[in-house]
Amino acid sequence: MTLRFPKGFLFGAATSAYQIEGAWNEDGKGESIWDRFAHTPGTIEDGTTGDVACDHVHRWSEDIDWMARLGLDAYRFSISWPRLLPAGSGQTNPAGIAFYDRLVDTLLEKGILPFATLYHWDLPQALEDRGGWTERSTAEAFCEYARVVARELGDRVKHWMTLNEPFVSAFLGYGDGRHAPGRRSEREALAAAHHHLLAHGRSVPILREHVHDGHVGIALNLCPVHAASPSDRDQRAASRLDGVLNRTFLDPLADRGYPSDVPYDRSVLDSLVREGDLREIAAPLDFIGVNYYTRRVVRDETVPERENAPRTVRLRREKTQMQWEVYPEGLYELLDRLRREYDFPSYYVTENGAAYPDQIGPDGRVRDPKRISYLRRHLEQSLRALEAGVPLRGYFVWSLLDNFEWSHGLGRRFGLIYVDFPTAKRIPKASFDWYGATIAQHAIPQEPA
Ligand code: FCB
Repeated sequence: MTLRFPKGFLFGAATSAYQIEGAWNEDGKGESIWDRFAHTPGTIEDGTTGDVACDHVHRWSEDIDWMARLGLDAYRFSISWPRLLPAGSGQTNPAGIAFYDRLVDTLLEKGILPFATLYHWDLPQALEDRGGWTERSTAEAFCEYARVVARELGDRVKHWMTLNEPFVSAFLGYGDGRHAPGRRSEREALAAAHHHLLAHGRSVPILREHVHDGHVGIALNLCPVHAASPSDRDQRAASRLDGVLNRTFLDPLADRGYPSDVPYDRSVLDSLVREGDLREIAAPLDFIGVNYYTRRVVRDETVPERENAPRTVRLRREKTQMQWEVYPEGLYELLDRLRREYDFPSYYVTENGAAYPDQIGPDGRVRDPKRISYLRRHLEQSLRALEAGVPLRGYFVWSLLDNFEWSHGLGRRFGLIYVDFPTAKRIPKASFDWYGATIAQHAIPQEPA
């Protein structure tokens, strides 16, 4: 196997607004559901919030210098909806627009392609107060927001993702309450899922209208689901979980409607779908962004209160600090499946990375050999997918910086750059140097001894 990446393949790193920006209530920014959620006692494992996070709003220029030192081809970031439209719709916030203007201009000056995500989970609280994603009107507000952003930045930002991981936002935010806004209802999760997809589909033509030569996609958390045994029951449980995690989003985007072999109550979805929705959701895309971390292995165990709920089996395998199995082959499996079963024009790995409890050594350096090994093995699987004919155009490490990892708080470090949160000081890790060498050589280098 050749270890070289094709010409034009983009190496990037990713972040998201709430996880790095801080300045949660500065310069006219409105409150988001993550501000509200993290300020609610008991929601975040270590009691921290994203109020300051990496303080990126004040340190963006230094952060772009680090990106340039790393040699990034592309940078994936998200735009904070309540920083631009504090109440979700209506009045725009000029200071918010100015912030992203400067960010984009400076990225371009340094030769780094901006890849922008419109929605990485930070819904304006004002919209949540009116029902949030359980309401169709939120999809309409999203279109207004998309139009503002596309008008302001579409002359310079050519790569757009509408949503990040609508599965997580809908099912963890409205279904099991682990994420903002912390609601717990299957019906609400399904409504949220449909309205996310509707918001996505309706915003695609808006982006196309305002962005000349635009590339429009969506970032999905996709995950191979394997059965713990060859038994029919386990196989079916795996397929149902695949239905929720993967096909509930891929199938409607590919104009196949919602899948039917799913463990949730399909009739709830059916009751929400109006004439024309599925056509809008299937708006042609330029790419699918794949966020890949691990696989799921499941066994069918009927849990009394949740009929047919599959149980994830914990294997004794190498794991990251998130307790996610390190399973690089899954990335190949996923990309190859997309190539065989779907016909989206191209793909990016829009997130891939690992959390480890990194520490600053006595010499002031941060050595993270496990992260290097994780990234190396996933890049190898990306090459394998390319060789199998997958139109994979780029790869983004999650994350550029250690940041606020949602309900885990500040205790899960995913960065190529270590952030000392009390001082916001940035210290590049060994993985930063290794990834820099990968980019420079356009090939996978040896791991440092
Ligand atoms: C993904 C999210 C991203 C980050 C990583 C670890 O699900 O998109 O924000 O939290 O997981």
